[in-house]
Amino acid sequence: FGAMAAGRHRITALFSLLVLALFTVRSSSKPLEEYPDKNSYQPPRPPVVLIPGDLGNQLEAKLDKPSVVHYICYKKTDSFFTLWLNLELLVPVAIDCWIDNIRLIYNSTTRATSAPPGVDIRVPGFGQTFPLEYLDPSKRSVGMYFFSIVQALVDWGYTRDDDVRGAPYDWRKAPNENKDYFLALQHMIEEMAEKAGGPVVLIAHSMGNMYTLYFLNQQPQAWKDKYIKAFICLGAPWAGVAKTLRVVISGDNNRIPVISPLKIRSQQRSAVSTSWLLPYSHTWPNDQVLVQTPTTNYTLQDYKRLFTDIGFEDGWLMRQDTESLVEDLTPPGVAVHCLFGSGVDTSEAFQYSDKFPDVEPTVVYGDGDGTVNLRSAVQCKRWVGKQKQPVKLVELPGNEHVNMLLNFTTVAYIKTVLFSP
Ligand SMILES: *[C@@H]1O[C@H](CO)[C@@H](O)[C@H](O)[C@H]1NC(C)=O
Ligand SMILES: *[C@@H]1O[C@H](CO)[C@@H](O)[C@H](O)[C@H]1NC(C)=O
Ligand SMILES: *[C@@H]1O[C@H](CO)[C@@H](O)[C@H](O)[C@H]1NC(C)=O
Repeated sequence: FGAMAAGRHRITALFSLLVLALFTVRSSSKPLEEYPDKNSYQPPRPPVVLIPGDLGNQLEAKLDKPSVVHYICYKKTDSFFTLWLNLELLVPVAIDCWIDNIRLIYNSTTRATSAPPGVDIRVPGFGQTFPLEYLDPSKRSVGMYFFSIVQALVDWGYTRDDDVRGAPYDWRKAPNENKDYFLALQHMIEEMAEKAGGPVVLIAHSMGNMYTLYFLNQQPQAWKDKYIKAFICLGAPWAGVAKTLRVVISGDNNRIPVISPLKIRSQQRSAVSTSWLLPYSHTWPNDQVLVQTPTTNYTLQDYKRLFTDIGFEDGWLMRQDTESLVEDLTPPGVAVHCLFGSGVDTSEAFQYSDKFPDVEPTVVYGDGDGTVNLRSAVQCKRWVGKQKQPVKLVELPGNEHVNMLLNFTTVAYIKTVLFSP
């Protein structure tokens, strides 16, 4: 793995299979206590919580498995090791071990996922920034994610893990299977606000925005008024992402030649968050053909049939389990700054040969940030005038989905929000 130049491309690619997330917080049962009225007292810096997207924070694994898929795979480890992102594990043969560890097993009776037998997965560093600044703990630039934003905050006077903190989570799952996470998030926000004497700014990327919306929708308005100053949304897939169709149908190696799309497909299908992010009917036209084969045209009214035809019936159940989580796009009830990239070729529809679904499609492109379709990213416009707090849309022409986090314009905008009264 000497070729780290190729690495940057590789990571961007891995990223694009995503769409990223947000949280849910359960309502606090304790009464809201008084602290200095935020209208009369402005702390110098509002605390900041970062919510990453799909694939957007480190995951660790510890193994004690009854069997492995290849003799080179570890069956047992003494301690936790980095499962994501660990480039050494994404090379031929080793990737088979990796897939067998990171996949989820869906139980269609309990409608819940679990890790394979003998695989213990944990999310390191809740409340800290390291798991999302760099996805790869060796801090190779290839895995750089929230680093630029965190470093800018530090330059403005913030302190890592104190008044700027990360809220990583298990991005393979949708909010319905991450209840403890939302509770932890709620407590962290309360603690940071109490300590600073003022409300918190949330900054989410990609699927992290869907998680955050879910979280805010669960909170009473009084809680949001007290604890949240603003919600900065970066590249949010409010109405889903067309690219997830390709991911579940034929797999997506994101142009990394050593990874077989069909091999990684099984792992990608097992992540419930993928089905959660399929396009939503509140935004996509019901008659638009999203997937075409020589015999069938599939629109979003045909998901059930599509899942059956590709031999992935559980996908339909996963969609049913998660579709309603944020489908209503209920206004978050906090000040919103909705930033999105445009002008980058973004997958919009897929045409398959008669080898469907075990073949690479021809891609039809449309507008967006290279991952999130523009029509999905702008759906925050629905909230304008539907909540008393301001909703601002900011288009960032030419910004790619992940590179948006590195762009000076984005960082400068964040500064304006943080330091405005
Ligand atoms: C699914 O869960 C049920 C209830 O816990 C259990 O009885 C069943 O064996 C599980 N199915 C699989 C395939 O593990
Ligand atoms: C699918 O739709 C295209 C136009 O979008 C049409 O030309 C084609 O005949 C349709 N195929 C089938 C099988 O209905
Ligand atoms: C940063 O964003 C601005 C505003 O969208 C854009 O004009 C510029 O090209 C971007 N820079 C990079 C390096 O992507």
